[in-house]
Amino acid sequence: MRHLLSTEDLTRDDALRVLDTAEYMATVADRSVKKLPTLRGRTVVNLFFEDSTRTRTSFEVAAKRLSADVINFSARGSSVSKGESLKDTAQTLEAMGADAVVCRHPASGAPYRLARWVRGSVLNAGDGTHEHPTQALLDAFTIRRRLGRLEGLSVTIVGDLLHSRVARSNMWLLSTLGARVTLVAPPTLVPVGVEQWPAEVSYDLDAVLPKSDVVMMLRVQRERMTAAFFPTEREYTRRYGLDADRLAAMPPSALVMHPGPMVRGMEIASDVADSTRSTVVEQVANGVSVRMAVLYLLLGGTREVT
Ligand code: NCD
Repeated sequence: MRHLLSTEDLTRDDALRVLDTAEYMATVADRSVKKLPTLRGRTVVNLFFEDSTRTRTSFEVAAKRLSADVINFSARGSSVSKGESLKDTAQTLEAMGADAVVCRHPASGAPYRLARWVRGSVLNAGDGTHEHPTQALLDAFTIRRRLGRLEGLSVTIVGDLLHSRVARSNMWLLSTLGARVTLVAPPTLVPVGVEQWPAEVSYDLDAVLPKSDVVMMLRVQRERMTAAFFPTEREYTRRYGLDADRLAAMPPSALVMHPGPMVRGMEIASDVADSTRSTVVEQVANGVSVRMAVLYLLLGGTREVT
């Protein structure tokens, strides 16, 4: 594996290798010196053409814990805002000797183009509405840690499916790893072609909740919306928001997940987001371990991990 562009083309073995390696990386976080020498002398470039808090800092912390040099390059404040093309940017990074480029871009498919232009590894950190593979890997890691397995679990993904790369990456990965995925959204936020996906579709959240082992809530992505997809926010929350009553309808051991950023009071009530059933903060912590694992596996590291 040289690049990580999607979970759709990730094999079960590759996915499990990432999750198992991440288990080891998580032990590093418990040490007083949270650092491995593995990627010393390697350069990781964070190339972000879209806003991000969690994902960018998570990749930065992950690369630094492996002793790599990290360069943060964001579209604002760079020559990209002067109209430099992705190809020219790629050639510049190439000339600087980047071993890995972590790319977030508003256009679906941009990291695939980048992968053709650079010699290093490309890691997709979210491309348009297409995929966000490390988010799905950290979600799978979080579920496996909490519930002990993925095989046979029922995972319900709720909300703005149309614009969500998190939903797409999770659906592919979770189905590869043997979970049953149900997608829930208002009909206007369900993508065309959904019947070809390895998932069930439902418009009735209340009918699905009692059968769910995991409920993953998505943010309504207003910044990608070109039209009105539902009547009012109140109406959306009433039908698709996760509040305390709906939490009570889930099995007692079922988890509540959210990739962040959350819009409290809209898709998720504040008390639900902060409940012990919610894995929101764990997901962020696990994100570092999973991204360390991916960087380690793609860049090879030095052989021994100590
Ligand atoms: C998501 C994203 O950017 O795709 N956030 C994330 O990476 N944690 C989801 C979102 O923006 O709602």
